Amino acid sequence: MSAGNERFSAEAAAWDSNEDVHRASESALQAILRHRPDLVENKKEAPIRGLDVLEIGCGTGLLTLRLAPYVRRIVAVDAAQGMIDALRQKLAKAATEEAKDSEGDCRASIQTICVLLEDPEDPALPAADFPDDAASFAPRRKFDLAISHLVLHHIPDHPALLKTLFGCLKPGGQLALTDFENFGPEARSFHPESRMDGVEFHGIEAELLAQQMRAAGFTDVSVQPEWVMEKAVERFPGEWDAGKPAGVELRKMQFPFLLCRGTKP
Ligand SMILES: C[S@@+](CC[C@H](N)C(=O)[O-])C[C@H]1O[C@@H](n2cnc3c(N)ncnc32)[C@H](O)[C@@H]1O
Repeated sequence: MSAGNERFSAEAAAWDSNEDVHRASESALQAILRHRPDLVENKKEAPIRGLDVLEIGCGTGLLTLRLAPYVRRIVAVDAAQGMIDALRQKLAKAATEEAKDSEGDCRASIQTICVLLEDPEDPALPAADFPDDAASFAPRRKFDLAISHLVLHHIPDHPALLKTLFGCLKPGGQLALTDFENFGPEARSFHPESRMDGVEFHGIEAELLAQQMRAAGFTDVSVQPEWVMEKAVERFPGEWDAGKPAGVELRKMQFPFLLCRGTKP
């Protein structure tokens, strides 16, 4: 993952200049809200009675900032310092804006942490909200909802990640992870050949991930396609056209995205 960290830190400053990442994050938000209509219905009360959310692999906060108005608090975690710095800059800018609109207030509920999260009791995570949580043995905060977007395919060990997320949730807490589906060899085209650093999978295999979620202890597991994203991609490696090597031309391709849901009993 360290090569991936360097890649993402290096790419952080220009991350938001890619229109695809904004479209994908908006679709991820809409998919989550379709399955949690209570978040929309209770948006007004969200700052007081809303959900505590953990986002793993928040990047520059494209999904974090979209979801923030619907929940109480978000702990936004990323292993790449560059990504966390980019999100912190956005939050600082919002805080210094003269007219604080409601979106600005929501941003105050986002806590950013740079950590490669592999342990639900990682001391980098916030302590639980006990009155005496200053005690060094206080367990870490537990969450109502854990989300990630376009992160699973960068993580080599899904059973280990699912075990970590299970440990981060409260009883009754839910997972809502979104990523593109491995629909066959052409799914490789999602990333250009020059940006394969840190790519562990060319998309997610729905049935395999569902099995791994059940094995981790989740119930009500559902791993289903939720939307399709059209994306300009390089020609497929090995695909030669009139003597031109892969990567020299773009073409449009459709990528199905999965929403992976489950509940901690
Ligand atoms: C493709 S980027 C997606 C960023 C963001 N979610 C978005 O859609 O714009 C994947 C991010 O996941 C982060 N990441 C991968 N594994 C992680 C882990 N175990 N803990 C924290 N961050 C992780 C990487 O550092 C990277 O910033």
